Amino acid sequence: MPRRNKIALIGAGNIGGELAALAAREHLGDVVLFDIPDKEGLAKGKALDLEQNGSILGYDAKITGTSSWDDCAGADVVIVTAGVPRKPGMSRDDLLSINLKIIRNVAENIKAKCPEAFVIVISNPLDAMVYELKKLSGLPKSRVVGMAGVLDSARMQLFLAREVGVSVRDVRAMVLGGHGDTMVPVTSYCTVNGVPLEQLISKERLDAIVTRTAGGGGEIVKLMGTSAYYAPASAAIAMARSYLNDEKRLLPCAAYCEGEYGYKDLYIGVPCIIGAKGVEKIVDIELSAEEKGMLEKSAAAVRELLEASKKL
Ligand code: NAI
Ligand code: 2OP
Repeated sequence: MPRRNKIALIGAGNIGGELAALAAREHLGDVVLFDIPDKEGLAKGKALDLEQNGSILGYDAKITGTSSWDDCAGADVVIVTAGVPRKPGMSRDDLLSINLKIIRNVAENIKAKCPEAFVIVISNPLDAMVYELKKLSGLPKSRVVGMAGVLDSARMQLFLAREVGVSVRDVRAMVLGGHGDTMVPVTSYCTVNGVPLEQLISKERLDAIVTRTAGGGGEIVKLMGTSAYYAPASAAIAMARSYLNDEKRLLPCAAYCEGEYGYKDLYIGVPCIIGAKGVEKIVDIELSAEEKGMLEKSAAAVRELLEASKKL
């Protein structure tokens, strides 16, 4: 008998709440909003508010707030935001020791309750968290992926659109590498509706946008004292939708590399095709010598994080 998809959101904070709102609005399925027992009221309150929103906006999703993993059992998609966000002055990497403990607990519960799910990790530091979750959950690499590249690319697309004076819908950009200061905006593939970017913008302005993109998360943390949540949630929902609807979108995601781009046993942002089988393919694209060098530097930063994780 057909049934509705079940989407479990682990963490009912800023991103978790926005994820629930988008999943319901986009009719992706029923939603379970999970948080720790201390925050069960928050999860239940957001769930009830969002269910009431359905009678105005016209969706029927069942939205449940809970602190019990039993309610997440059998989820088709799990999106993990559990952890703490960055505070001003804090780098993503500073979050490592706090969020690592949380992600280990989440991984064990996913293994026990949602072993068939497609898991999207958002918690920071992203590349280390998604690596740890895959390792401890034992889920296949095709079903554990990290969200960063879609967000970082969206930021770059916005900055480029504003600079060139065109609609954001016509700008395509892709940011690869780790989700940190060493991320790799792949300028050689940027276009405005197919027009190569170098025809529309000076090297100096492009360099400034690349720098702003790499600091895009920190820019928002500085402004509001916590990290971004609208665009991060939309980015993860685009990935979930591609999986649930077998859309086969080509999206930059943190994926487990076993030889791709020359990396082994490493999660890093690479172009992926997301369809019904999860990460169906990592697409090997040709990079300029400069971009290859930047990716190498970014991979080294991710490896450093993994080494630090091993000691915690
Ligand atoms: P938030 O603080 O609003 O929400 C996090 C929630 O996780 C809290 O409600 C907290 O109680 C919950 N939590 C803590 N331990 C848990 C556990 N063991 N099980 C379930 N839930 C638990 O934070 P926000 O703004 O939603 O950000 C979440 C994470 O996403 C942060 O680590 C942040 O740095 C990261 N982030 C990542 C981005 C990316 O591009 N990958 C972009 C923006 C944020
Ligand atoms: C962001 O990029 C802080 O990772 C978070 O917004």
